[in-house]
Amino acid sequence: MNEQVQPAGGPLFNPLSPDFIRDPYPHYERLRTIDPIHVTPFGQFVASRHADVSLVMRDKRFGKDFVERSKRRYSPEIMNEPVFRSMSHWMLQSDPPDHTRLRGLVVKAFTARRVEDMRPRIQEIVDQAIDAVIDRGHMDLIEDFAFRLPVTVICEMLGIPEDHREVFYKSSRDGGRLLDPVPLSPEEIAKGNAGNMMAQMYFQQLFELRRRNPGDDLITQLVQAEEDGNKLTNEELTANIILLFGAGHETTVNLIGNGLLALHRNPDQLALLKAQPDLITNAIEEFLRYDSSVQMTGRVALEQIDDLGGKTIPKGETVLCLLGSANHDPAVYPDHPDRLDITRPNVRPLSFGGGIHFCLGAQLARIEAEVAIATLLRRLPDLRIDDVENPEWRPTFVLRGLKQLPASW
Ligand code: HEM
Repeated sequence: MNEQVQPAGGPLFNPLSPDFIRDPYPHYERLRTIDPIHVTPFGQFVASRHADVSLVMRDKRFGKDFVERSKRRYSPEIMNEPVFRSMSHWMLQSDPPDHTRLRGLVVKAFTARRVEDMRPRIQEIVDQAIDAVIDRGHMDLIEDFAFRLPVTVICEMLGIPEDHREVFYKSSRDGGRLLDPVPLSPEEIAKGNAGNMMAQMYFQQLFELRRRNPGDDLITQLVQAEEDGNKLTNEELTANIILLFGAGHETTVNLIGNGLLALHRNPDQLALLKAQPDLITNAIEEFLRYDSSVQMTGRVALEQIDDLGGKTIPKGETVLCLLGSANHDPAVYPDHPDRLDITRPNVRPLSFGGGIHFCLGAQLARIEAEVAIATLLRRLPDLRIDDVENPEWRPTFVLRGLKQLPASW
Protein backbone atom coordinates (compact mmCIF):
# COMPACT_ATOMS: atom_id res chain seq x y z
CA MET A 1 0.00 0.00 0.00
CA ASN A 2 1.21 3.53 -0.75
CA GLU A 3 1.18 5.49 2.48
CA GLN A 4 2.29 8.96 3.34
CA VAL A 5 5.20 8.92 5.78
CA GLN A 6 5.47 12.01 8.02
CA PRO A 7 8.00 11.23 10.75
CA ALA A 8 8.77 13.27 13.86
CA GLY A 9 11.09 16.14 12.98
CA GLY A 10 8.81 17.79 10.42
CA PRO A 11 7.60 16.95 6.93
CA LEU A 12 10.06 14.99 4.82
CA PHE A 13 9.56 17.05 1.68
CA ASN A 14 8.78 20.75 1.99
CA PRO A 15 10.97 22.11 -0.78
CA LEU A 16 9.99 25.78 -0.57
CA SER A 17 10.64 26.10 3.17
CA PRO A 18 13.52 28.51 3.93
CA ASP A 19 15.48 25.74 5.62
CA PHE A 20 15.19 23.47 2.58
CA ILE A 21 16.16 26.28 0.18
CA ARG A 22 19.19 27.14 2.33
CA ASP A 23 20.49 23.55 2.42
CA PRO A 24 18.43 20.73 0.86
CA TYR A 25 21.02 17.99 1.39
CA PRO A 26 20.19 16.93 5.01
CA HIS A 27 16.53 16.73 3.89
CA TYR A 28 17.50 14.49 0.98
CA GLU A 29 19.43 12.20 3.30
CA ARG A 30 16.33 11.75 5.47
CA LEU A 31 14.22 11.02 2.39
CA ARG A 32 16.68 8.44 1.03
CA THR A 33 16.92 6.61 4.36
CA ILE A 34 13.37 6.92 5.75
CA ASP A 35 11.10 6.94 2.68
CA PRO A 36 12.92 6.74 -0.67
CA ILE A 37 9.67 6.82 -2.68
CA HIS A 38 7.78 9.39 -0.67
CA VAL A 39 4.16 10.42 -1.31
CA THR A 40 3.46 14.17 -0.95
CA PRO A 41 0.19 15.70 0.30
CA PHE A 42 -0.50 16.55 -3.38
CA GLY A 43 -0.28 12.82 -4.23
CA GLN A 44 3.02 13.04 -6.09
CA PHE A 45 5.67 10.38 -5.64
CA VAL A 46 9.17 11.63 -4.78
CA ALA A 47 12.16 9.50 -5.81
CA SER A 48 15.38 10.36 -3.98
CA ARG A 49 17.74 7.41 -4.56
CA HIS A 50 20.08 7.42 -7.54
CA ALA A 51 18.86 4.04 -8.87
CA ASP A 52 15.17 5.07 -8.88
CA VAL A 53 15.76 8.57 -10.28
CA SER A 54 17.92 7.20 -13.05
CA LEU A 55 15.40 4.49 -13.94
CA VAL A 56 12.38 6.81 -14.04
CA MET A 57 14.13 9.26 -16.39
CA ARG A 58 15.14 6.52 -18.83
CA ASP A 59 12.26 4.01 -18.72
CA LYS A 60 9.79 4.28 -21.63
CA ARG A 61 6.90 3.44 -19.32
CA PHE A 62 7.29 7.01 -18.06
CA GLY A 63 6.69 10.17 -20.10
CA LYS A 64 5.72 13.82 -19.73
CA ASP A 65 1.97 13.72 -20.53
CA PHE A 66 1.95 17.47 -19.87
CA VAL A 67 -1.61 18.34 -20.92
CA GLU A 68 -3.34 15.58 -18.93
CA ARG A 69 -1.05 16.12 -15.95
CA SER A 70 -1.81 19.86 -15.89
CA LYS A 71 -5.56 19.29 -16.24
CA ARG A 72 -5.53 16.81 -13.36
CA ARG A 73 -3.51 19.15 -11.20
CA TYR A 74 -5.57 22.27 -11.88
CA SER A 75 -8.72 21.90 -14.02
CA PRO A 76 -9.46 21.24 -17.72
CA GLU A 77 -9.62 25.02 -18.25
CA ILE A 78 -5.95 25.39 -17.36
CA MET A 79 -5.03 24.78 -20.98
CA ASN A 80 -6.77 28.07 -21.89
CA GLU A 81 -4.03 29.92 -20.01
CA PRO A 82 -1.47 31.16 -22.58
CA VAL A 83 1.52 30.18 -20.44
CA PHE A 84 0.29 26.57 -20.11
CA ARG A 85 -0.54 26.36 -23.82
CA SER A 86 2.95 27.58 -24.61
CA MET A 87 4.64 25.13 -22.21
CA SER A 88 2.67 22.25 -23.73
CA HIS A 89 4.66 22.83 -26.96
CA TRP A 90 8.09 22.79 -25.30
CA MET A 91 10.19 19.81 -26.36
CA LEU A 92 10.95 19.51 -22.65
CA GLN A 93 7.28 18.74 -21.97
CA SER A 94 6.58 16.65 -25.10
CA ASP A 95 6.55 12.92 -25.71
CA PRO A 96 7.49 11.16 -28.94
CA PRO A 97 6.77 11.59 -31.79
CA ASP A 98 6.46 15.39 -31.21
CA HIS A 99 9.52 15.40 -28.98
CA THR A 100 11.67 13.63 -31.58
CA ARG A 101 10.58 16.04 -34.30
CA LEU A 102 11.13 19.21 -32.25
CA ARG A 103 14.49 18.15 -30.82
CA GLY A 104 15.66 17.01 -34.24
CA LEU A 105 15.22 20.55 -35.59
CA VAL A 106 17.74 22.13 -33.22
CA VAL A 107 20.06 19.35 -32.10
CA LYS A 108 22.76 20.10 -34.67
CA ALA A 109 23.37 23.56 -33.21
CA PHE A 110 24.38 21.96 -29.91
CA THR A 111 26.78 19.18 -30.94
CA ALA A 112 30.06 18.99 -29.01
CA ARG A 113 31.97 20.22 -32.07
CA ARG A 114 29.72 23.24 -32.76
CA VAL A 115 29.92 24.21 -29.13
CA GLU A 116 33.70 23.77 -28.95
CA ASP A 117 33.94 26.22 -31.88
CA MET A 118 32.26 28.81 -29.66
CA ARG A 119 35.03 28.66 -27.01
CA PRO A 120 37.02 31.71 -28.29
CA ARG A 121 33.87 33.87 -28.30
CA ILE A 122 32.96 32.63 -24.80
CA GLN A 123 36.47 33.56 -23.63
CA GLU A 124 36.03 37.04 -25.12
CA ILE A 125 32.73 37.63 -23.31
CA VAL A 126 34.22 36.47 -19.99
CA ASP A 127 37.27 38.71 -20.42
CA GLN A 128 35.06 41.70 -21.22
CA ALA A 129 33.01 41.11 -18.06
CA ILE A 130 36.20 41.09 -15.96
CA ASP A 131 37.65 44.13 -17.80
CA ALA A 132 34.50 46.07 -16.91
CA VAL A 133 34.99 45.63 -13.15
CA ILE A 134 38.68 44.96 -12.59
CA ASP A 135 39.53 48.50 -11.41
CA ARG A 136 36.55 48.61 -9.08
CA GLY A 137 37.84 46.11 -6.53
CA HIS A 138 34.44 44.55 -5.97
CA MET A 139 31.47 43.10 -7.88
CA ASP A 140 28.40 40.94 -7.54
CA LEU A 141 29.52 37.62 -9.01
CA ILE A 142 25.96 36.85 -10.13
CA GLU A 143 24.86 40.12 -11.70
CA ASP A 144 28.20 41.45 -12.97
CA PHE A 145 29.83 38.17 -13.92
CA ALA A 146 27.83 34.90 -14.12
CA PHE A 147 24.67 36.40 -15.61
CA ARG A 148 25.89 38.18 -18.75
CA LEU A 149 27.76 35.22 -20.27
CA PRO A 150 24.95 32.69 -20.82
CA VAL A 151 22.44 35.39 -21.78
CA THR A 152 24.82 36.86 -24.35
CA VAL A 153 25.69 33.41 -25.74
CA ILE A 154 22.06 32.29 -26.13
CA CYS A 155 21.07 35.68 -27.62
CA GLU A 156 23.86 35.32 -30.20
CA MET A 157 22.88 31.73 -31.00
CA LEU A 158 19.24 32.70 -31.46
CA GLY A 159 20.12 35.86 -33.40
CA ILE A 160 18.59 38.42 -31.04
CA PRO A 161 20.05 41.75 -32.20
CA GLU A 162 22.37 43.46 -29.75
CA ASP A 163 20.24 46.57 -29.32
CA HIS A 164 17.21 44.44 -28.32
CA ARG A 165 18.99 42.62 -25.51
CA GLU A 166 18.84 45.05 -22.60
CA VAL A 167 15.26 44.03 -21.79
CA PHE A 168 16.33 40.37 -21.63
CA TYR A 169 19.19 41.23 -19.28
CA LYS A 170 16.67 42.84 -16.94
CA SER A 171 13.66 40.55 -17.02
CA SER A 172 14.80 37.06 -17.63
CA ARG A 173 15.30 35.62 -14.14
CA ASP A 174 11.66 35.57 -13.01
CA GLY A 175 10.26 32.42 -14.63
CA GLY A 176 11.72 29.81 -12.25
CA ARG A 177 8.61 29.49 -10.09
CA LEU A 178 6.75 27.90 -13.06
CA LEU A 179 8.83 24.75 -12.61
CA ASP A 180 8.39 24.19 -8.87
CA PRO A 181 6.32 21.18 -7.76
CA VAL A 182 3.78 23.23 -5.79
CA PRO A 183 0.64 24.49 -7.61
CA LEU A 184 0.80 28.06 -8.90
CA SER A 185 -1.49 30.69 -7.42
CA PRO A 186 -3.84 32.66 -9.77
CA GLU A 187 -1.48 35.66 -9.38
CA GLU A 188 1.52 33.56 -10.41
CA ILE A 189 -0.37 32.20 -13.43
CA ALA A 190 -1.34 35.78 -14.39
CA LYS A 191 2.31 36.86 -14.09
CA GLY A 192 3.38 33.86 -16.20
CA ASN A 193 0.77 34.78 -18.83
CA ALA A 194 1.93 38.40 -18.96
CA GLY A 195 5.60 37.39 -19.40
CA ASN A 196 4.66 34.83 -22.01
CA MET A 197 2.54 37.30 -24.01
CA MET A 198 5.35 39.85 -24.06
CA ALA A 199 7.83 37.23 -25.24
CA GLN A 200 5.37 36.04 -27.91
CA MET A 201 4.85 39.55 -29.23
CA TYR A 202 8.57 40.21 -29.34
CA PHE A 203 9.46 36.96 -31.08
CA GLN A 204 6.69 37.29 -33.71
CA GLN A 205 8.29 40.60 -34.76
CA LEU A 206 11.74 39.03 -34.81
CA PHE A 207 10.45 36.12 -36.94
CA GLU A 208 9.17 38.69 -39.46
CA LEU A 209 12.55 40.38 -39.49
CA ARG A 210 14.34 37.06 -40.08
CA ARG A 211 11.94 36.13 -42.87
CA ARG A 212 12.93 39.34 -44.65
CA ASN A 213 16.61 39.32 -43.57
CA PRO A 214 17.78 35.76 -42.92
CA GLY A 215 20.85 35.36 -40.70
CA ASP A 216 23.18 32.58 -39.64
CA ASP A 217 21.25 31.82 -36.47
CA LEU A 218 18.79 29.40 -34.89
CA ILE A 219 15.72 31.60 -35.31
CA THR A 220 16.33 31.93 -39.06
CA GLN A 221 16.78 28.16 -39.26
CA LEU A 222 13.54 27.47 -37.40
CA VAL A 223 11.55 30.11 -39.28
CA GLN A 224 12.63 28.38 -42.51
CA ALA A 225 11.58 25.00 -41.04
CA GLU A 226 8.19 26.50 -40.22
CA GLU A 227 7.81 27.83 -43.76
CA ASP A 228 8.77 24.44 -45.22
CA GLY A 229 5.35 23.11 -44.28
CA ASN A 230 4.54 20.53 -41.67
CA LYS A 231 7.81 20.42 -39.69
CA LEU A 232 6.86 23.01 -37.08
CA THR A 233 3.80 25.12 -36.26
CA ASN A 234 4.04 28.79 -35.37
CA GLU A 235 3.02 28.03 -31.77
CA GLU A 236 5.72 25.38 -31.50
CA LEU A 237 8.30 27.72 -32.96
CA THR A 238 7.58 30.48 -30.45
CA ALA A 239 7.32 28.13 -27.48
CA ASN A 240 10.61 26.41 -28.16
CA ILE A 241 12.48 29.66 -28.69
CA ILE A 242 11.18 30.80 -25.30
CA LEU A 243 12.27 27.45 -23.83
CA LEU A 244 15.77 27.69 -25.32
CA PHE A 245 16.12 31.21 -24.05
CA GLY A 246 15.05 30.29 -20.49
CA ALA A 247 16.77 26.89 -20.27
CA GLY A 248 19.90 28.35 -21.79
CA HIS A 249 20.82 30.84 -19.13
CA GLU A 250 19.30 30.68 -15.62
CA THR A 251 20.71 27.17 -15.17
CA THR A 252 24.20 28.15 -16.30
CA VAL A 253 24.26 31.35 -14.22
CA ASN A 254 23.55 29.12 -11.25
CA LEU A 255 26.18 26.53 -12.16
CA ILE A 256 28.80 29.30 -12.15
CA GLY A 257 27.42 30.92 -8.97
CA ASN A 258 26.96 27.69 -7.00
CA GLY A 259 30.36 26.43 -8.15
CA LEU A 260 32.16 29.62 -7.05
CA LEU A 261 30.41 29.54 -3.68
CA ALA A 262 31.32 25.86 -3.17
CA LEU A 263 34.97 26.55 -4.00
CA HIS A 264 35.23 29.48 -1.60
CA ARG A 265 33.58 27.47 1.15
CA ASN A 266 36.30 24.85 0.64
CA PRO A 267 39.60 26.80 0.59
CA ASP A 268 41.70 23.63 0.16
CA GLN A 269 39.84 22.88 -3.10
CA LEU A 270 40.16 26.50 -4.22
CA ALA A 271 43.92 26.40 -3.62
CA LEU A 272 44.20 23.08 -5.44
CA LEU A 273 42.38 24.38 -8.52
CA LYS A 274 44.51 27.53 -8.59
CA ALA A 275 47.65 25.37 -8.37
CA GLN A 276 46.44 22.86 -10.98
CA PRO A 277 44.16 24.65 -13.49
CA ASP A 278 43.98 21.44 -15.56
CA LEU A 279 41.59 20.06 -12.97
CA ILE A 280 38.89 22.46 -14.22
CA THR A 281 37.03 19.90 -16.38
CA ASN A 282 36.64 17.45 -13.52
CA ALA A 283 35.92 20.33 -11.13
CA ILE A 284 32.91 21.39 -13.25
CA GLU A 285 31.46 17.85 -13.07
CA GLU A 286 31.97 17.93 -9.30
CA PHE A 287 30.25 21.35 -9.03
CA LEU A 288 27.33 19.93 -11.00
CA ARG A 289 27.17 16.97 -8.62
CA TYR A 290 27.84 18.84 -5.39
CA ASP A 291 25.19 21.57 -5.73
CA SER A 292 23.23 21.14 -8.94
CA SER A 293 21.59 24.20 -10.43
CA VAL A 294 18.64 22.00 -11.45
CA GLN A 295 17.39 20.03 -8.44
CA MET A 296 14.47 18.14 -9.89
CA THR A 297 12.61 16.94 -12.94
CA GLY A 298 9.53 14.76 -13.24
CA ARG A 299 7.81 12.04 -15.22
CA VAL A 300 4.28 10.63 -15.43
CA ALA A 301 3.61 6.87 -15.32
CA LEU A 302 2.13 6.02 -18.74
CA GLU A 303 1.00 2.64 -17.34
CA GLN A 304 0.80 1.21 -13.83
CA ILE A 305 4.30 0.57 -12.44
CA ASP A 306 4.12 -2.32 -10.01
CA ASP A 307 7.33 -1.83 -8.12
CA LEU A 308 9.30 1.35 -7.82
CA GLY A 309 11.29 1.11 -4.59
CA GLY A 310 8.51 -1.05 -3.11
CA LYS A 311 5.63 1.24 -4.12
CA THR A 312 3.01 0.92 -6.85
CA ILE A 313 2.71 3.94 -9.12
CA PRO A 314 -0.78 4.08 -10.67
CA LYS A 315 -1.08 5.11 -14.31
CA GLY A 316 -1.20 8.90 -14.68
CA GLU A 317 0.60 9.67 -11.42
CA THR A 318 3.68 11.88 -11.29
CA VAL A 319 7.10 10.85 -10.01
CA LEU A 320 9.37 13.74 -9.00
CA CYS A 321 13.03 12.88 -9.59
CA LEU A 322 15.32 14.57 -7.05
CA LEU A 323 18.50 15.05 -9.08
CA GLY A 324 20.30 16.81 -6.24
CA SER A 325 19.58 13.91 -3.93
CA ALA A 326 20.64 11.25 -6.45
CA ASN A 327 23.93 13.15 -6.83
CA HIS A 328 24.61 12.70 -3.08
CA ASP A 329 23.56 9.07 -2.82
CA PRO A 330 26.29 7.12 -0.98
CA ALA A 331 25.33 4.03 -3.00
CA VAL A 332 27.03 5.70 -5.99
CA TYR A 333 29.41 8.11 -4.23
CA PRO A 334 30.63 6.10 -1.23
CA ASP A 335 33.47 8.51 -0.42
CA HIS A 336 31.78 11.31 1.58
CA PRO A 337 29.18 12.43 -0.96
CA ASP A 338 28.55 15.67 0.96
CA ARG A 339 32.18 16.74 0.55
CA LEU A 340 33.45 18.81 -2.39
CA ASP A 341 36.33 16.94 -4.04
CA ILE A 342 37.40 18.26 -7.43
CA THR A 343 39.59 15.19 -7.97
CA ARG A 344 36.74 12.73 -7.32
CA PRO A 345 36.92 9.91 -9.86
CA ASN A 346 33.95 8.80 -12.00
CA VAL A 347 31.72 11.79 -11.35
CA ARG A 348 28.64 11.41 -13.54
CA PRO A 349 26.02 13.71 -12.08
CA LEU A 350 22.39 13.41 -13.06
CA SER A 351 22.14 17.21 -13.14
CA PHE A 352 21.48 17.25 -16.90
CA GLY A 353 18.73 14.61 -16.62
CA GLY A 354 18.71 11.38 -18.58
CA GLY A 355 16.95 9.49 -21.34
CA ILE A 356 15.45 11.23 -24.36
CA HIS A 357 15.23 14.62 -22.60
CA PHE A 358 18.93 14.68 -21.64
CA CYS A 359 19.91 18.35 -21.62
CA LEU A 360 20.46 19.69 -25.08
CA GLY A 361 22.78 22.41 -23.76
CA ALA A 362 24.93 20.24 -21.46
CA GLN A 363 28.15 20.69 -23.38
CA LEU A 364 27.56 24.40 -23.89
CA ALA A 365 26.92 24.88 -20.16
CA ARG A 366 30.06 22.93 -19.27
CA ILE A 367 32.26 25.04 -21.54
CA GLU A 368 30.74 28.31 -20.37
CA ALA A 369 31.31 27.39 -16.73
CA GLU A 370 34.80 26.08 -17.43
CA VAL A 371 35.94 29.27 -19.17
CA ALA A 372 34.20 31.55 -16.65
CA ILE A 373 35.58 29.94 -13.49
CA ALA A 374 39.09 29.23 -14.84
CA THR A 375 39.46 32.81 -16.12
CA LEU A 376 38.19 34.36 -12.90
CA LEU A 377 40.69 32.38 -10.80
CA ARG A 378 43.52 33.31 -13.15
CA ARG A 379 42.75 37.01 -13.54
CA LEU A 380 41.50 37.79 -10.03
CA PRO A 381 43.50 35.39 -7.84
CA ASP A 382 42.90 37.43 -4.67
CA LEU A 383 39.10 37.52 -5.04
CA ARG A 384 37.21 36.81 -1.83
CA ILE A 385 33.47 36.29 -1.37
CA ASP A 386 32.22 38.78 1.23
CA ASP A 387 29.95 36.39 3.14
CA VAL A 388 30.44 32.72 2.30
CA GLU A 389 28.41 31.52 5.28
CA ASN A 390 25.07 33.23 4.66
CA PRO A 391 24.57 33.96 0.98
CA GLU A 392 21.07 34.86 -0.21
CA TRP A 393 19.40 32.05 -2.18
CA ARG A 394 16.63 32.64 -4.70
CA PRO A 395 13.31 31.37 -3.28
CA THR A 396 12.84 28.65 -5.93
CA PHE A 397 13.49 24.94 -5.54
CA VAL A 398 13.90 23.36 -9.00
CA LEU A 399 16.27 26.07 -10.17
CA ARG A 400 18.75 26.40 -7.33
CA GLY A 401 20.81 29.56 -7.36
CA LEU A 402 21.94 32.66 -5.54
CA LYS A 403 20.29 36.09 -5.66
CA GLN A 404 23.66 37.76 -5.34
CA LEU A 405 27.22 36.92 -4.35
CA PRO A 406 29.21 40.06 -3.54
CA ALA A 407 32.98 39.66 -3.75
CA SER A 408 36.06 41.89 -3.44
CA TRP A 409 39.77 41.77 -4.34
C1 HEM B 1 16.80 19.72 -20.64
C2 HEM B 1 19.60 20.82 -16.84
C3 HEM B 1 21.85 24.23 -19.47
C4 HEM B 1 18.61 23.56 -22.98
C5 HEM B 1 17.41 19.69 -19.42
C6 HEM B 1 17.13 18.72 -18.38
C7 HEM B 1 17.90 19.06 -17.30
C8 HEM B 1 18.68 20.21 -17.65
C9 HEM B 1 17.91 18.36 -15.95
C10 HEM B 1 16.22 17.51 -18.54
C11 HEM B 1 14.90 17.66 -17.91
C12 HEM B 1 14.12 16.36 -18.00
O1 HEM B 1 14.66 15.29 -18.19
O2 HEM B 1 12.91 16.44 -17.82
C13 HEM B 1 20.46 21.82 -17.23
C14 HEM B 1 21.54 22.34 -16.41
C15 HEM B 1 22.17 23.30 -17.16
C16 HEM B 1 21.49 23.38 -18.44
C17 HEM B 1 21.88 21.86 -15.01
C18 HEM B 1 23.34 24.16 -16.81
C19 HEM B 1 24.14 23.96 -15.82
C20 HEM B 1 21.22 24.32 -20.66
C21 HEM B 1 21.59 25.16 -21.77
C22 HEM B 1 20.66 24.98 -22.76
C23 HEM B 1 19.71 24.00 -22.28
C24 HEM B 1 22.83 26.07 -21.78
C25 HEM B 1 20.53 25.59 -24.12
C26 HEM B 1 21.14 26.58 -24.60
C27 HEM B 1 17.84 22.48 -22.63
C28 HEM B 1 16.74 21.97 -23.43
C29 HEM B 1 16.22 20.87 -22.76
C30 HEM B 1 17.01 20.71 -21.56
C31 HEM B 1 16.26 22.54 -24.75
C32 HEM B 1 15.06 19.98 -23.21
C33 HEM B 1 15.61 18.80 -23.96
C34 HEM B 1 14.55 17.80 -24.34
O3 HEM B 1 13.44 17.81 -23.81
O4 HEM B 1 14.83 16.97 -25.23
N1 HEM B 1 18.38 20.57 -18.95
N2 HEM B 1 20.45 22.49 -18.42
N3 HEM B 1 20.07 23.61 -21.02
N4 HEM B 1 17.98 21.71 -21.50
FE1 HEM B 1 19.30 22.04 -20.02
